[in-house]
Amino acid sequence: MLKFEKVSLTFKTEGREQHVLKDLSYTFETGRITAITGVSGIGKTTILNLAAGLLETSEGSVINTFAKTAYVFQEPRLLPWKTALENVTCVCGDEKKAKFYLDILLPEGSDKYPDELSGGMQQRVSIARAMAYDAELVLLDEALKGLDMQTKDAVVKTLREHLKGRTAIMITHDKSELEFCDTVLEISDAPISELKHVNR
Ligand SMILES: Nc1ncnc2c1ncn2[C@@H]1O[C@H](COP(=O)(O)OP(=O)(O)O)[C@@H](O)[C@H]1O
Ligand SMILES: [Mg+2]
Repeated sequence: MLKFEKVSLTFKTEGREQHVLKDLSYTFETGRITAITGVSGIGKTTILNLAAGLLETSEGSVINTFAKTAYVFQEPRLLPWKTALENVTCVCGDEKKAKFYLDILLPEGSDKYPDELSGGMQQRVSIARAMAYDAELVLLDEALKGLDMQTKDAVVKTLREHLKGRTAIMITHDKSELEFCDTVLEISDAPISELKHVNR
């Protein structure tokens, strides 16, 4: 279960306060894919960081009872001193499994270091890493952004297959991603006090 209970979050920087979340309550549907859309800077990444336990609330609580949480960050965040294959292997401890996902997502270049790969290729490695981690809860922050048209279809297909039966939250504006989400939520006002269902 992933539940936000009366969550408020205020960032304090240089004496300035910014209220990003205000009294937000929401329970994400288990076993379903939920998309969140909203303009940049409104707090979408902050919601994922709270769900992942990377940020603490100012008030209220985030209850995440899933044993494992995978997170595809907005930037690839690979370990620069490890090859693509090593980056994926280090989360699952199983090179065969890492190769399996990389063969689909990055058919060439798995022996290369992140700085030898393009941004889109690094992003595909970070998606492979999240899949190899085999988590019950999967968080995706604009994961398909920056991917070229040629490889995107394969990534979408693999991702869709992988997310079946898992609980996922996708921050996205991308039509091909929204298509396979069960629920679409929209953030329209700051600070965030509700996640509105979008009728499709
Ligand atoms: N660690 C932080 N410290 C201070 N302010 C932050 C921090 N993280 C995010 N913010 C601010 O909170 C707001 C929401 O950020 P973010 O969640 O990244 O937005 P989005 O993902 O919707 O673009 C922004 O105004 C951003 O500047
Ligand atoms: Mg963001």
